[in-house]
Amino acid sequence: MASQTDPSITIDIPLTRDDHILIKHQITQGLLGNPKTLPSKLFYDERGSILFEQICTLPEYYQTRTEHHLLTKWADEIISLSGAEELVELGSGAATKTRVLLDAMAKADQLRYYVPFDVDESIVRRVSEELAWEYPGLQIHGVVGDFLFHLEHIPEGGRRLVVILGGTIGNLLPVAAREFLVSVNTEMASGDFFLLGVQLITDRSRLEAAYNDKQGITAKFNKNIIRVLCDNFGSHADPEAFDHVARYNEDEHRIEMWLRSREEQILDIPAVDLRVHFKQGEEVRTEISTKYDHPLTEELLASSGFELVKWYCDPNNLIGLALAQKP
Ligand code: SAH
Ligand code: AVI
Repeated sequence: MASQTDPSITIDIPLTRDDHILIKHQITQGLLGNPKTLPSKLFYDERGSILFEQICTLPEYYQTRTEHHLLTKWADEIISLSGAEELVELGSGAATKTRVLLDAMAKADQLRYYVPFDVDESIVRRVSEELAWEYPGLQIHGVVGDFLFHLEHIPEGGRRLVVILGGTIGNLLPVAAREFLVSVNTEMASGDFFLLGVQLITDRSRLEAAYNDKQGITAKFNKNIIRVLCDNFGSHADPEAFDHVARYNEDEHRIEMWLRSREEQILDIPAVDLRVHFKQGEEVRTEISTKYDHPLTEELLASSGFELVKWYCDPNNLIGLALAQKP
C-alpha cells in the first residue's frame, strides 16, 4: 500500500496478512521458549518511539550524543567517499542524527533521496513531513515495515549510502545480525556504501547505568511492550505488575533487558490464544543490546559481503562507525 501526503513524500506500507500472522507466531514462540522472550520491535509504537527519543537525551545514555559528535566530525568525508545521492536509513526512528548526513549531502550538492525505513508508521510519517519541510527539493520515500523481511521495498534512486545507526544492529542476535546484513548487501549495487553504527564494549558500570537511568524512562520504555500487547493483542496485563531489569552479560558482551514478574500471574494474549504463567520473580527477556569492537565489526561486515573502508571511533572507544562498501 502506498500513500501520498505531499508531492515530495511517498510512504509505502508493505505489510500483509502474512506479516500479522508472523508477529503473532514470534510472540508465541518467544513466550513458550526458555528463557521467555518477546520480540524487541514490539517496543516501537508511537509511545515507544517517543520514549526512545527521551532515552536519547538522558545523561546516562551516552550513546546518542557520542555518535552525533562522531557523525558531525566525519560526515563530509563519509559523503564525499560514498558519492551517494540516496540515503537509505534502516531503523530510522526520529532521524535526529541523520540530519548531519543530509546536511553534508546538501553541502556537496548530492542530496536527492532519503528513505526512512522503520517498523513504526507514526515516526516514518512524522520524520518524512519534518524533513520535506527542512530540505526543500528532497524526495522522501518512507517504508513502514520490518527490515528483516521487507528490504525489497527500498526504492531505486541514485548511488546509495545505506545506514544503520544507534547500535540497532546490536538488538539482533549475532546470527540474525549477519543474515540481516547479507540481505542488506543483496539489495545494494556493487560500489554502494554502507555505514554501520555500533556500540562498543566498555565497562559494566557505564553500560548498566545507561539502561537503568535515574528518571526511570528506560523502565517505562521496557514496560511499553506490555502496553503494546494490551493495545494490539487484546491482553489485560498490567505493565506495573513487572519490574524493569537491565544487566550486562559479560560472556555475550551484551546488555539484556528483562521484565520481572512482581507476583505470580497469568499473562493473557487473546489475539494469539495464549495464557502464559509467570512465577513470582520470573523474567521475560525483552531486548538484547550487543556491544561490538573493531575486529568483531569487521568480521561481521566481511562475512556479510562488505569491505571495510574506514573505521571511526571516539577517543573513549564508546561508539564505532564502520564505513564499508559492497565490492
Ligand atoms: N536510528 C535511530 C533510532 C534507533 S531506535 C537512532 O540511532 O537514534 C531503533 C529503531 O529501529 C526504532 O525506530 C525502531 O522502530 C526500529 N526497528 C526496530 N526493529 C525493527 C524492525 N525489525 N524493522 C524495522 N524497524 C525496526
Ligand atoms: C535502539 N537500540 C540500539 C537501543 C539500545 O541501546 O540497544 C534501545 C534501547 N533500549 C534501552 N535503551 C535503549
